[in-house]
Parts: sequence; C-alpha cells; structure tokens
Amino acid sequence: MIGQRAEAIAHPNIALAKYWGKLDEAQNLPAVPSLSLTLAGMSTRAAVQFDPALSADAVEIDGRPATAPAAARVAALLDLVWQAPGGPGGARPPAAVQSANDFPTAAGLASSASAFAALAVAASAAAGARWSEAELSDLARRISASAARSVFGGFVELPAATAVAPALSARPLAGPEHWDLRMIVAVTTEEAKTVGSTQGMLRTARTSPLYAGWLAVAPGIFAAVREAVLRRDLERLGEAAERSALAMHATALAAEPGLLYWNGATVELMAEVRRLRAGGLAAYFTIDAGPHVKVLTVPEEVDRVRDRLAVVPGVLRTIVARPGAGARLCSVAAQPGESP
Ligand code: DP6
Repeated sequence: MIGQRAEAIAHPNIALAKYWGKLDEAQNLPAVPSLSLTLAGMSTRAAVQFDPALSADAVEIDGRPATAPAAARVAALLDLVWQAPGGPGGARPPAAVQSANDFPTAAGLASSASAFAALAVAASAAAGARWSEAELSDLARRISASAARSVFGGFVELPAATAVAPALSARPLAGPEHWDLRMIVAVTTEEAKTVGSTQGMLRTARTSPLYAGWLAVAPGIFAAVREAVLRRDLERLGEAAERSALAMHATALAAEPGLLYWNGATVELMAEVRRLRAGGLAAYFTIDAGPHVKVLTVPEEVDRVRDRLAVVPGVLRTIVARPGAGARLCSVAAQPGESP
C-alpha cells in the first residue's frame, strides 16, 4: 500500500577484487567484475515514505538536509523504483527519506554502498512493490554499483557488463558463515576524499594510459579472488586482493591529473602489513578511493595485527569488522487511519 513508511538496514562492503571503470556511464554498468565482503557491525538505516501532500522530496542524511548532489542521487533511485516494471508507474509523488549511518562517513567505508542498498529495499517496500533480491540489487547498482553488492551478505560478486544490457545484479557467492575472517579498518584521516569514486573512475578511463592494462588484468585477478574465497585459501585471497588494489591505484595514479588517494600513513600501513606477513602473521591490505587501509586477517591474529596497525604513525583509530548479512526490511508501517 502506498503511503506506508518502510525502513530497511544494510551494511557496507569492501571489495577484494575492485570495481573501477564503467562500460556505460548512463546505465552505470561496470567494466570489470568485482567481489566483496559485506561487513557486520556497521550499518545504514533508511526510511522512505511516499507522500503526495509534500511539495517536494525531503531527504535527510544523518539528521541534516541532504546536499543537492546527494538528494539528486536519492531522487534518481526513487524514480527508478517508481517506474520499474512491478512498481506503481506514472508520476512519482514526493517522498520523505531519512538515511543514517551508525559509523562515521569519513571512516573510509563506502557509505554509499550501504545507503543505496538500504534505500532500494525501503523505497520498494514503501512503493508497495515486491521484487526479488536480484531485482533490488539491479536497482541499487544503477545508482552506485558497489551498492548492488550490499544487498547480499557475506562474499558477493558483481559480474562485468558484457553489453549495454538493461539489467545487471550482484549475486551471493558464499554466505557470511562460509569463512570467519576479520577486516580491520585503519582510519588515517577525518577528511572527506577530494575526488569521489564515480568521478575518479571516469577520469581514469578517459585519461590513464594504463586503463587498458587494468581492463586486461582485472578479470584474472577477480577469478583468483573468487577461487580463493571458495577454497578458503587466505594466502591466495590476500595476495590477489592486494594485486587488485595496487593495480587499481596504479591505473588511477597515471590519470591526468593523477588520482592520489593515499596519504603518508597509507604507505606506512602497506609496508607494515608486508612486515607483519614476513613475521608470520596473516595480514593482507586493500585500499579504496581514499587513504584508509583495510586489512584482512583471521580471528586468532586480529588482536596482534590490530595492535601493530594502531601504532603506525598517522593512524587515528582502528575498527574491526566480521562478515555480515545482506540488506533487509526492518519495518513497514501504515499511516494512521489506514488498515495495515
Ligand atoms: C574503489 O560504487 O562508489 O570502492 O558506481 O560510480 O557509484 P559508482 O561507484 P562506487 O565505486 C566503488 C569503487 C571502489 C571499489 C569497489 O567497491 O569495488
């Protein structure tokens, strides 16, 4: 029933095989396959209510009115939900949207992934649509490709688009119970990044002479990550994940102007992770479009690895996360006076 307020929750994910580059910008189709781990312990809650009495969308993020670009992305998702086959169709009424993270946005975790996964689930329920997880993932992917993966829990893959096809969803490879790993996030700044992922990857594709090389190696790295996850082979997984992150950053560094997402602490952390490994500990890094370093390890070694990362100069704090569940609906409430 339209008019009901729906609330959903979703968790961020960290890619072990990175998505960087689009086959098609307008459709937001990834040019390379990616594979991520959805993380428990941090979440975005999103609530949506379509309300014809409103004069315009009212979008709040973390208790404040959304910036114009963020509100436009939310509106684009609401439009897609409204117009998709199985949705209400016709002119979309304005909506009240509240989205809140329980982790700092500057923590270097992809808040857009959990935010748009939670929003896709909440908005579809608020619109009275009943879509499969694959359909919800496809909707979220159109706004932010990494969000397609946060619809599912555990280890999740998002294939590359092979043609400008209308639909592309992430799919679960193995649930959170498949492998009890830990991801330690070493936070190295409170500042927001200067160039977002979307702009960064567009600039890379247009100007980096290494972009063709990235497109050539990424599918093989993805295949190695995928196989290592299925076999629970941490050494092969970690080495492939580092290759993916380093190849992505090398390609972005060669763009014009070069995309330098790292700070000094990022480099110190990479070196420390390599030293930890040389000393016999299981520790492998990955880095997204920002200066924070995420380190994959096992539960038995998480305290020792964390203690070493925490004292690397420039590290502000560390966060430990474990494999988490997919996006889900928390509540659907009818407006007062309506039957549920
Ligand atoms: C480095 O999903 O934020 O985190 O589709 O343009 O919204 P858009 O990009 P986004 O890019 C994520 C890039 C990354 C790697 C990854 O998560 O795979």
